[in-house]
Parts: sequence; structure tokens; C-alpha cells
Amino acid sequence: MSLPFHISIVFLIFLIFRLILTVHSDNTTLHVQPGSSSFKIVLFADLHFGEDTWTDWGPRQDVNSIKVMSTVLDQEHPDFVVYLGDIVTANNIPIKNASLYWDQAISPTRDRGIPWSSVFGNHDDMYFEWPMEWFSSTGIPPLHCRVNVSCPPESEGDCSFKGTTRSELMMNELEMNKLSYSKFGPKDLWPSISNYVLKLSSANNPESVIAYMYFLDSGGGSYPEVISSAQAEWFNRASQEINPNSRVPEIIFWHIPSQAYKEVAPRSDAHGNCIGSLFMEEVAAQGAEMGMMELLEGRSSVKAVFVGHNHGLDWCCPYKKLWLCYARHSGYGGYGNWPRGARILEITQQPFSLKSWIRMEDGHVHSEVLLNS
Ligand SMILES: *[C@@H]1O[C@H](CO)[C@@H](O)[C@H](O)[C@H]1NC(C)=O
Ligand SMILES: *[C@@H]1O[C@H](CO)[C@@H](O)[C@H](O)[C@H]1NC(C)=O
Ligand SMILES: *[C@@H]1O[C@H](CO)[C@@H](O)[C@H](O)[C@H]1NC(C)=O
Repeated sequence: MSLPFHISIVFLIFLIFRLILTVHSDNTTLHVQPGSSSFKIVLFADLHFGEDTWTDWGPRQDVNSIKVMSTVLDQEHPDFVVYLGDIVTANNIPIKNASLYWDQAISPTRDRGIPWSSVFGNHDDMYFEWPMEWFSSTGIPPLHCRVNVSCPPESEGDCSFKGTTRSELMMNELEMNKLSYSKFGPKDLWPSISNYVLKLSSANNPESVIAYMYFLDSGGGSYPEVISSAQAEWFNRASQEINPNSRVPEIIFWHIPSQAYKEVAPRSDAHGNCIGSLFMEEVAAQGAEMGMMELLEGRSSVKAVFVGHNHGLDWCCPYKKLWLCYARHSGYGGYGNWPRGARILEITQQPFSLKSWIRMEDGHVHSEVLLNS
């Protein structure tokens, strides 16, 4: 064997590795697994990690939420997970850096090597709200914060609990996690952060796009609960550019339901064409409608919108030519004791179909629905 032959083999191997690395570093494209014709997504909504950590109750809720996620992931074996906001309850977290709890909420997915992405809910970047009872005779419980006696007297030390901003939470998620597909959206959409698009491609042909998934930050917490007209305009531009003829199906994710959800909301005793099992609350919608829904209605490619926020609702209802769906309260944190579960989406190619169901913590499955048209 001649030396040049060796060198060319080494070079070839190098090239192959480069190619693999290049494909992997494309952090906006997801692929159907080779040999599979479908792609499965689990939605975890309203986990509310980090509540009442100064009691036994709070940490127990988080352990239970980890169990819910682990059960669902082990039964469904998804290709991808979407964290649909209210990952933490920041207004209840008396430490400076809520990423500690954010990270715990992500851990069941990361530990299984499953990629994911996240959007913000209204609780994720809130300020700490000091509980009234801490000012009664029980006093303030021992906390993980110290006022540094060497600091100037006006300093709040580590006890300021000013909340962790959206950009800090996002930065920490991305820095620590290679499997995260979350993104800082365009800077001009500030203060909303989690606005981005992911492409789902077929296994062997990256050019063959099966669906586009749009993630939007529906606000709340440090600013109003709304999808701004700037975000609507961004969606309009992005969708026109990547999917100009609406040929590729599109799926939308954000946290707080838009006002259109109120229009289709079924009564608790008459569900109409809606499919679900929880009809326990009024829709708690965004503060205003700034044009996003009109754009979605105008695109034949948009199949469904998925939100969290209302823990007592888990339905999907037809709305004009698309579907408006709730996820399912997945966390033991947050209000409501309805049994926990997760909405599952299964996207199939050729022909395209979008199937959904809810997988409960006890393993049982219900509310299966086809969201194709
Ligand atoms: C995603 O890819 C872009 C372009 O290659 C890169 O600038 C960015 O840092 C990547 N983001 C993450 C979270 O890996
Ligand atoms: C916040 O917590 C995360 C996760 O534990 C950590 O990676 C990050 O460095 C922390 N940031 C600060 C400013 O302490
Ligand atoms: C307290 O503050 C002083 C002065 O700012 C600093 O040098 C010291 O490291 C701080 N101690 C702790 C425990 O943070």
C-alpha cells in the first residue's frame, strides 16, 4: 500500500466527519428517523417547577412532575419534546437564578437523549412575590440567600429575587444543552424572545420538507400577555419566504391562548365538534389580538395551534380551516388537581397527517383526533 493512498483514506474519513458535523450543527432542522415514516412530539405544558421550596410540599411536586414526564417519555418514545411554557413558577422562587429549576424540568428529556425546544409562559420570568405569612409570627424561613455583611448597608445581597429574565433563561438553556433547538428570536421582536421556526425534513432527503413548526412568545410575566403586531409581521415575512405557496403544512406553538379560543370554547355540557376530556374553565386569553390569528386563518397550510396556560382545559376545537388545541397540564406545580398528562402529536409524511392524543400519567390514552384539515 502506498503512502498517498493512506493519506487519501485519511482525507476521505476527515471529509465524512466534516459532513456529519455540518449536518448535526444545523440547529433548525429536525429529521424523521431513517426507516420511520412518522415523527412523534410530546408537549409538556405548565410544569411550574420551583414552587414553595422552603416546604416539603414544593420539592415533592417537582419529583412528581419528573415522574409524569419520565412515564410519558418511556411509553411514547418521542423524537422531540416541546416545553410549552410555565416551565417554572418564578414568582414563587426565592433564589436569584431560576435556571436551576428550569434545568431540572428539562432533565428527563435530556437524560434520555431526546432533543427539545421551549417557549416562554407568563410565569417563567416573574419577580418573586413575598408571601404574606412570612411577615407574621412564623417569620421568614431559612433561605438559600445571604445578605453579605461586608456589603454596603443598602445592598440586598442575594435576597433581591428579581427574577431571571427571559434572555438569561434562554442563554442558560442554550449554553448547557446541545440537544436544545430553542432560539433567541430576532432582536427587533424584544421583549418577546422565543420566536423561531424549525423545519421537519424526511430522513434521507433534507430538501423534502414535511412540516414547518413556528414557536412564538405569547408574553406575560414582565410585560403584557400578547403576540405583538411585530411578531405577526415577522411570522408573515418568515412564512412567505420559506413556504411561499403554502405547499408545506405548518404547525404553531405558544403558551397563552389567543382570543379566538374563546370563540370556539365548548360549553362543559355540549362539546360540539371539540375533542377532549377537560372542560373545567373559562379560556384565559391573551390581552389583545394584534393580527396573528388573521394571518394564520389566511394560510391554508396552517393545520393547528397548540397552547397551555389553562390547566383545566385539554380540548381541540375546529376553528375556520384549522384547529385550536390545548396541551394537557403536565406538572404537579400550578393550580388544579386534574390528573396529569401530555398531549402527543404524530406527524406522518406522504400523505401528510397530523394525529394527536393525550397520554396520562397512569398510562391511559384518550382524546385521539386527526388534525389534518
Ligand atoms: C445554531 O446555528 C447557528 C448558525 O450555524 C449558530 O450561529 C448558533 O450559535 C447555533 N445555535 C445553537 C444554540 O447551537
Ligand atoms: C444560573 O444557573 C444555571 C443552571 O444551574 C447556570 O448554568 C448559570 O451559570 C447560572 N447563572 C448565574 C449567573 O449564576
Ligand atoms: C462580601 O462582599 C465583599 C465586598 O464586596 C466581597 O469581597 C466578599 O467576597 C463577599 N463575600 C461573600 C461571601 O460573597
